[in-house]
Amino acid sequence: MPASSLAYDPSAMLLPSHRDPAEAVHGYATFLKEARDSLITRQRRCEMGWLDLPFEADMVRRIRSVVQATSKFKTLLVIGIGGSSLGARAILQALPSKKQVLFAGANTDPDELVSILASIDLRKTAVNVVSKSGDTIEPMATFLVVRDRLKKMVGARFADHIIATTDTEEGTLAEWSRAEGFHRLIVPRNVGGRFSVLSDAGLFPAAWAGIKIEDILAGAAIQIRQFATKPPAEQFPAVYAAIHADAYLKHHRHVFVLMPYAARLEAFALWYRQLIAESLGKAKNRAGLGIGIGPTPIAGLGATDQHSQIQLYMEGPADKVITFMEVKSFDEKLTVPAPPVMAAAWRALAGKTLEQLIHAERVCTSQALAENGRPHGTLFVRGISAQSMGELFQSFMIATAYLGELFDVNAFDQPGVEAGKRCLREWLRNA
Ligand code: PA5
Repeated sequence: MPASSLAYDPSAMLLPSHRDPAEAVHGYATFLKEARDSLITRQRRCEMGWLDLPFEADMVRRIRSVVQATSKFKTLLVIGIGGSSLGARAILQALPSKKQVLFAGANTDPDELVSILASIDLRKTAVNVVSKSGDTIEPMATFLVVRDRLKKMVGARFADHIIATTDTEEGTLAEWSRAEGFHRLIVPRNVGGRFSVLSDAGLFPAAWAGIKIEDILAGAAIQIRQFATKPPAEQFPAVYAAIHADAYLKHHRHVFVLMPYAARLEAFALWYRQLIAESLGKAKNRAGLGIGIGPTPIAGLGATDQHSQIQLYMEGPADKVITFMEVKSFDEKLTVPAPPVMAAAWRALAGKTLEQLIHAERVCTSQALAENGRPHGTLFVRGISAQSMGELFQSFMIATAYLGELFDVNAFDQPGVEAGKRCLREWLRNA
């Protein structure tokens, strides 16, 4: 098994029970062990499909065959929202692609859709409509507009352009896809929307763009094996969960910030934001008692946020736990040239690489926060690669599942989202 590309340093957590982070984790050792046993039992009962995805050879074959069948197209337009969009967006932003992939359907903003459609030639575009339920209004409205235009442009062969990713059997999109003969991909029944990035939903757009999805899955598999075999105190997801549960439950730290120092990971932080918010923001515990729990996740970006959010994190309410992500080695090496004006500060800059600079920015922000008693940790990522992205997705999904157990909530449902969806359907019937 290849070595993990992730290393977590929580030594700057600084909360009273975190003076020694190992102690904080130790305090949760029994809970973490029980949490892992419970998740593995549910995996064996086939309820946790997201833990099995990295080992699904059939899935890779299915994705590859649809990539092959649609490879003649120049552009891929992915239509989806929430868990049916954020994962693919994060992969496509992080990893270099060989072909153009665009996203729509995450909003019903007409200006946005018109400008996306104006930028592509639909005759040379494959359209991947992704909806696990097959009934979500925003992507369906977008898809209807796109399908209509496509049909007018290319005639009877329009279905050849369309790939529907949805439930194996149920939902309007599955039915529609059978009726019109779209290419078909699936989101397994036992994989929830925000846990579906490593299914056809996230991996087809990646594979279509020429990204080696086998490497993403190999990265995810490293984290699954560690989850199943290593003591929780030695796993990043379990340690992250213990520290964050402790900060939330004992120290009123109700805001969790994820701040990668890498522009290519900005969309990853947005994916994390949905994962935490929808999985942990719950009215009731698993026994049905009203508890109204859930951290507020913030998706940040370093060094950009140093000139936007850090003032708040440094001096504002003491309600946050920050996780920095530091990429140890960037793909590109750029050196700052000598300036024409020899001011001292500028002279010092000349000859430094931007990589050195971004690392120093993270270290200095971290030091300043520590001096101010503001708790934070750093997740080191060896480099942004297909393997590390697989590890990142899988480890944060595991951490979220652990947090669900520690908060005693069902991390895999979303009654609040469903309520909004019901209301919109009701509005449509009456409008
Ligand atoms: O995590 C979830 O379940 C949600 O965020 C869904 O992904 C989102 O509502 C989109 O649903 P669907 O894929 O059914 O269109």
